[in-house]
Amino acid sequence: MQHPLALQIGAAALLAWLGGCESGAVAASSRAGGATASGRFEPPPERTSEVMPGGATSISQPAGAPPAFDLPAANLRPDQRTAFYAGRALARQPWVKAPSSTDARDGLGPLYNARSCLACHVRGGRGRVSTADGQLSTATLVRLSLPGRDPSVGVLPEPTYGTQLQLRSIALREQLPGSGGRSGVRLSSIPAEAGVAVRWLEQAYRYPDGSEVVLRRPEIALEGLGYGPLHAETRIGLRHTPPLHGLGLLALIDQEDIARLADPDDRDGDGVSGRQNRVWDPIDGRARPGRFGLKANQASLRVQVAAALRTDVGITSSVFPEQPCTAAQPRCQRAPGGALAGEAEISDDLLALLVGFVRSIGVPRRRTADHPLVRRGRGLFYRTGCASCHAPSFVTGSDPSAPHLSGQEIWPYTDLLLHDMGPGLSDGRRDYLAAGSEWRTPPLWGVGLARAVRKDVGLLHDGRARTVEEAVLWHDGEARASRERYAGLAARDRRALLSFVRSL
Ligand code: HEC
Ligand code: HEC
Repeated sequence: MQHPLALQIGAAALLAWLGGCESGAVAASSRAGGATASGRFEPPPERTSEVMPGGATSISQPAGAPPAFDLPAANLRPDQRTAFYAGRALARQPWVKAPSSTDARDGLGPLYNARSCLACHVRGGRGRVSTADGQLSTATLVRLSLPGRDPSVGVLPEPTYGTQLQLRSIALREQLPGSGGRSGVRLSSIPAEAGVAVRWLEQAYRYPDGSEVVLRRPEIALEGLGYGPLHAETRIGLRHTPPLHGLGLLALIDQEDIARLADPDDRDGDGVSGRQNRVWDPIDGRARPGRFGLKANQASLRVQVAAALRTDVGITSSVFPEQPCTAAQPRCQRAPGGALAGEAEISDDLLALLVGFVRSIGVPRRRTADHPLVRRGRGLFYRTGCASCHAPSFVTGSDPSAPHLSGQEIWPYTDLLLHDMGPGLSDGRRDYLAAGSEWRTPPLWGVGLARAVRKDVGLLHDGRARTVEEAVLWHDGEARASRERYAGLAARDRRALLSFVRSL
């Protein structure tokens, strides 16, 4: 059955731009907005540091084992390595329901999506989008909100279900009233919030030279809503799991370096603006530029990790002491927690260990940087304007607590800014300043290994793109001119450009 709120991602808009592309190739120079004349898109000379995108943290993948995005930075000292592995174990082992004999690891739920971080971030990377039987996978989240926003949450939560659908729940032991001198205990589940069916809608994209690519986008239907209907104005957005490598380096990019790349009013007239999100930081109790999350809606890694613990696993912390139960979910609110009254389910020490793990994951070295096709693609990456948003390099600032991350020349290919990607990629949900169609430019380092880490993952915010090529073909809005320049290239040049991206 099709739920009335089934997610519809701008079919008309998609057709409009597909039509637009078919009706005429745009020559590589004609849409450059003066940029070609100014030489803005000229590729800079290649540097040897480009093969080490994470600077001295860069790692080679271990021989004989599948590649992973949860391996320690190459330059971690032995004592830091011990802490890294302890943090990784914490991210990997499933949390259990309270009360249990393992005090430090109980408190799962009452409502949750998965039992551990790495159940979704598989080997530190992405999860899959949907299962073989047409359900949304655990690793893809369904976010909810109403129009408008609460200044400290960024969105206006749906009144019954909150900001995220938790698809799983724990069972509670309930004491039965005694009869005939006997009393009993029964297990009864707190209702999970919903099941989510996903259907893939296919659409052909035709290049100006006539060759075709099949694109797909998800349409979801909510089934078995556990607490009654959703508010009629609910906006629904999907979030596919991003990979975790290199985030400690991104955290150390100077705020000024990012601000310098922003051009919210497009003063230089190149059609690409880019702006920073401004979000609430519950640790400092003030608004700050956002850097993490697909809409840059979290200020720091510590807040991002604490938010994941709370909303994805149901673990409270000193940053977020409340469970994500709404007033409409009294059994969720009454369920026993995994901590003593007034304490959080995860201690600050263990939270720091988890953040330390995420922060110190190494970035994979590039594999095929010196192949002639890749070299040629590098030039085209700049010439088509990809680098306007996928900003190639930075030097990280310094943090005395993380010398291994400090002062590194890095090549993440992101400006960490929000860009309007057009109606086809919009989820219609505002998050702080980010509109439905605005997304943070994702880093491209390691993107070529995504499918080796796990073969059925997707790219883009909802995992709809199965390949780098599909991801590029969905670019619209501010990225439209760049996508058209790419699409207008000869087939072998398109291949070269894609090989470059896959070499990252
Ligand atoms: C149920 C699946 C799921 C679980 C469990 C989960 N995550 Fe995530 N994670 C996601 C998704 C989806 C996003 C993107 C969310 C968004 O931006 O709205 C994300 C985003 C992140 C980010 C931001 C990445 C970036 O590029 O900015 C970090 C860091 C992160 N998660 C760490 C963790 C940690 C640590 C845990 C365990 C406490 C965890 N996650 C548990 C699915 C999950
Ligand atoms: C106007 C800014 C902009 C330009 C120009 C741009 N991109 Fe992107 N790119 C983005 C944003 C934002 C996303 C994320 C969109 C989403 O998740 O819905 C993205 C996503 C991607 C992804 C998917 C990455 C992932 O981890 O999911 C790839 C690959 C990519 N871009 C490659 C390119 C290439 C190649 C070019 C040049 C032909 C290009 N981009 C031009 C902003 C841009």
